[in-house]
Amino acid sequence: MSQPDLSKTHPPRFEDLRGILRYVPQFRQRVFVISIDGDLVKQPSFSALLQDVAVLQSLNIEVVLVYGSRSQIRDLAAERGVELTSDDGMGRTDAASMDIAVSAITRQASLLMADLTALEIPVAISNALAVHPAGVINGVDQEFTGRIERVDVESLQALLKADIIPILQPMGYDGRGTTLRLNSDAVAVEVAIALRAAKVIFIAESGLFLAGQRIAQIAAIDARQLAKHPTETLDINLLSKLRYGGIACQEGVPRVHIVDGSQEEALLAELFSNEGVGTMIHADDYQQIHAASAADVPALLSMMQQSIDDAALVPRTREQIHEKLGDFFVLELDGNPIASVAVHTYDDPATGIRTGELACLFVRRAHKNRGHGQKLVTFAEDTARARGCHRLVALSTQAFRFFEEKLGYTVATPDALPAPRRAAYEASGRNSKVLIKDLQLPPPTSV
Ligand SMILES: CC(C)(COP(=O)(O)OP(=O)(O)OC[C@H]1O[C@@H](n2cnc3c(N)ncnc32)[C@H](O)[C@@H]1OP(=O)(O)O)[C@@H](O)C(=O)NCCC(=O)NCCS
Repeated sequence: MSQPDLSKTHPPRFEDLRGILRYVPQFRQRVFVISIDGDLVKQPSFSALLQDVAVLQSLNIEVVLVYGSRSQIRDLAAERGVELTSDDGMGRTDAASMDIAVSAITRQASLLMADLTALEIPVAISNALAVHPAGVINGVDQEFTGRIERVDVESLQALLKADIIPILQPMGYDGRGTTLRLNSDAVAVEVAIALRAAKVIFIAESGLFLAGQRIAQIAAIDARQLAKHPTETLDINLLSKLRYGGIACQEGVPRVHIVDGSQEEALLAELFSNEGVGTMIHADDYQQIHAASAADVPALLSMMQQSIDDAALVPRTREQIHEKLGDFFVLELDGNPIASVAVHTYDDPATGIRTGELACLFVRRAHKNRGHGQKLVTFAEDTARARGCHRLVALSTQAFRFFEEKLGYTVATPDALPAPRRAAYEASGRNSKVLIKDLQLPPPTSV
C-alpha cells in the first residue's frame, strides 16, 4: 500500500463547496459506517479514498471503518499453496483457511492503521463484536465461520466521542478464545444497526449496473429480491452488498450506498451530489406514510392532544381536520398511527408564489428519536414540491431548533408568511418562531 500523496489534493470549486455545505447540518454527529473491500487497497485510488474519509471526519461525521480481506486472503492462499474452503466469510472456514485469513486480515489492519496515521487520523482497532460459531448449516459444520451475536455499542461510542475512528476487522473472538471469520458486509450492517447509523457506505470493487445502466436507487425490498434472484450475472460481492444493504434498511438504517471505489472521488461524489455516482438502497419509507382518511381523524385528534396540552401545537377541531383532510398525512407502524403531518398551501395572487405550510407535525412519545420526525418533514417537503410550492414555512414554539439543526430551515420574520396566514398568526398571540425553507433547490436524492 503506497503512502497517500497529499500534494495531489486540489481545492474544491465554490459550487462544489456550496453543494457540500448544504448537507453538513444534517450529517453532523451522525454515524456513517464505511466498509472498504480488500481489493481496493491495491488500487491507486486508495490514498484519495482515505483522504475523503478524513474529509468526512472533519465535517463532524462520526466514521466507523470496516474492511474486507477477500482479495488478500486469496493472494496469500495462492502464495502458500493452500486450498480455501471459503474466502469471504460466508461459507465453511476450515482450520487452514482460518490460518490464512488471520494472517491476511491482521496484516491489512496494520497497513490501514499506518496509512490513516500518516494522514493524522486517530484510529483504533476495535474488538466490539461478540461472536459465536455459525454452527451447523444445512448439515455442514461451518467450523471457523462466525456469527455476530452482539455489538458493544458503548465501546464504539466512547471511541467516536474521542474523535477516534474505530476499525472493525472481518473476524472476531468468542468467549472461549477462538478466532472466527466474519463477512465484512455483515459486520458493517450489524454495527450500523446497533449504532443507529445514518448510512452504510460500501466501497466496492465495482458499481452496480443492470443492462449497462447504473442503478442509482433501489428500494430495500427490491435489493433483497435482486440479491436472491439476479436478473443478470452479478459479482458475488455485489449480491452480498445488495442483500445486507436491504437488511440494514429494513432494520432502520435510512440509507445504504454502494460506490465503485476504483473511481476517484466516488465517495464524496455519491454523498454530496444530487445525482450521486453509485447506488443508493433506501427503506421503503413512504409506504408507511399515507394520506389521512376520515377513519384516521380520531387517531389524529388523540395524537395531537398531548402536544396541544404542552402548547406545542395549535388546537384543531374534528371539523377543521375534516375540512382540510386532504392536507393531512399519517405515519403507521404495524398498522398503528404513530405520527402525523399536514401540508397546507397558500397562493399569493400578487406574486403568483405558492407557499406551503408544514403543520401538525407530531410523533408519539414512545416513537420519538427514531427519525420519524425528520422523515415526515422530508415527506412534507416532497408533497409541497409536488403541489407546486416554492417554499415551505413552519410555525413552532418548541421545535424550532429541530427544524434549523436537523433539516436546514432558517428562522424568518412573520413577513415570510402568506398574507392570510399572517393575519391568523398575529391574532393567535402564540408568538411562534417562523421557519422557512426554499424548495426550489433540487431535492437531495442521494441523502
Ligand atoms: C419535534 C418532533 C416532531 C421530533 O420528532 P422525532 O421523531 O423525535 O425526531 P427525529 O427522530 O426525526 O429526530 C430526533 C433528533 O431531533 C432532535 N430534536 C427532537 N425534538 C427537538 C426539539 N424540540 N428541539 C431540538 N431538537 C430536537 C433530537 O434531539 C434528535 O437529535 P439527535 O439525532 O442529534 O439525537 C417531536 O418531538 C414532536 O412530536 N414534538 C411535539 C410536537 C411539535 O413540537 N411539533 C412541531 C411543530 S409543527
